Amino acid sequence: MKIYVINGPNLNMLGIREPDLYGHTGYRELAEELARYAEEKRIELVLYQSNHEGDLVDKIQEAYFKKCDGIVINPGAYTHTSIALLDALKAVGIPTVEVHISDVSRREAFRQTSYIRPVCVASIIGHGTKGYFEAMDILMKGRV
Ligand code: DQA
Repeated sequence: MKIYVINGPNLNMLGIREPDLYGHTGYRELAEELARYAEEKRIELVLYQSNHEGDLVDKIQEAYFKKCDGIVINPGAYTHTSIALLDALKAVGIPTVEVHISDVSRREAFRQTSYIRPVCVASIIGHGTKGYFEAMDILMKGRV
């Protein structure tokens, strides 16, 4: 099974940015933990982060052409703004789980909209970086 884990803007700043909201785990540390977890579960993992919306669209399209089975995506602030990401996910039709490290449901009004949520098989919100692993588990279960 091949899974793409895609992170949007400012998630490369994990561990540095607002640790009260996003925790102390750095992006590199998270990436290593995800790679280890994937190896244990015999998943082929492609991990990607970009601060640029179009690059995220490109990666979602790549997931289709590389025959990926599932996507885990935290689009960061683009969650609340990006029709392009919604359209990309619709275009590829790959089972996708949305992850937010912080509990966006208890934050500002502008974070209450998620353009991608309607096309995701699940959304994991406010479970910290653990949410990425839970998202992978959901995709793996869908496969069995
Ligand atoms: C986030 C929540 C978004 O509102 C925010 O813009 C982020 C991170 C989260 O993981 O909690 O960049 O997606």
